[in-house]
Amino acid sequence: MAFVPGEIVGHFREHFGSAETPLLYRAPGRVNLIGEHTDYNLGYVFPIALEMACYVAIAPAAHGKLRVYSRDFKKEASLAIADIASAEASKQWSDYVFGVAQELQKAGFPIAACDLYVVSEVPAGSGLSSSAALEIATAVALLGGRDFPKVELAKLGQRAESQFVGMPCGIMDQYAAVFGHAGAALKIDCRSLGHEYVELPSNVRIIAANSLVKHELGTSAYRERVAECQQAVAALRELDPKIESLRDVALDFFERVQDSVPLVPRRRARHIISDTQRVVDLAAAARRHDLSEMGRLFVASHRSMQYDYEISCAEIDFLVDTAIQIPGVYGARMTGGGFGGCTVNLVAPEAVDGFREHLAAAYNDRYQKTPAFYDCLPAEGAGAVV
Ligand code: GLA
Repeated sequence: MAFVPGEIVGHFREHFGSAETPLLYRAPGRVNLIGEHTDYNLGYVFPIALEMACYVAIAPAAHGKLRVYSRDFKKEASLAIADIASAEASKQWSDYVFGVAQELQKAGFPIAACDLYVVSEVPAGSGLSSSAALEIATAVALLGGRDFPKVELAKLGQRAESQFVGMPCGIMDQYAAVFGHAGAALKIDCRSLGHEYVELPSNVRIIAANSLVKHELGTSAYRERVAECQQAVAALRELDPKIESLRDVALDFFERVQDSVPLVPRRRARHIISDTQRVVDLAAAARRHDLSEMGRLFVASHRSMQYDYEISCAEIDFLVDTAIQIPGVYGARMTGGGFGGCTVNLVAPEAVDGFREHLAAAYNDRYQKTPAFYDCLPAEGAGAVV
């Protein structure tokens, strides 16, 4: 979506009939390159923050409320400041905003009456983390320059989503929205909550292809996967009480003992343990500019999600299987929570046009839909827009 941040001030005033000059904040979406569902198992993930972002314009108001308008949903919602502490989710987009306000208050940061105008470029339900972008953009807007440690900001966004909205997510999306860095991917250690920036080879483009399948199954299946991983941990703890999460399980140990884990949790664990290793391997391959190894890891990760974690779907498998046949494509895999959304593709720069044409035509023939493509350039994390 073409969006000019400067125009938001006019839209804000027009919508709220306000003479205030709002301040503007942004937080990016993300595309995860590898390490899927490993975050809540305290492993590694490897996302990049995107230029596509959620923007929040904010100005003080005298109506005693937190009032928010979403230009994308064309809807307004409001909550009395006095009711923030006791508010509950209403299964609306505004839950992300009110959840963040509640968590900020709990953290000792009072919220004053204000108007918020929200515009997002991150397509919802596409696996590019539109919710975390909204949470973190809201949080930085409501903080308005008050000091808040960055890692705590990511954790606060995650709490808003898991405790208020009710989606038991890991930390990756909010962390990427906070710590994103132009020119580099983020290798995040979801146990220590530290990260390193890894520059990606310049002779490859990262292209996301949107299947346009929305992950409706998302929350219930996500919850199920979280529980199945816990079952795997319980079985493995019988063998080694030091194991607290799947992060603690080495691949060779798992291979030796996997028969003592019931079948479904065993397959889930195999995905998590191997994908955590693939993050380490992908970061190393990126550092030595080994594009064919990066591509191989992408495809291995996809197969692991497809067969062991069982979070792919026919449309996504078709996009991956078709992409990897196209000359100049090093690898492809699904990105994000699963059951639809986007694939992420590693493509030689000179092959990008052909890749898009070929993939769009094949998807159209098979599913009568044209995938949307996004050029993914690593961008900065959340902050004020000057
Ligand atoms: C969603 C969650 C993340 C992560 C991914 C899968 O985006 O919000 O925490 O678990 O799915 O990798």
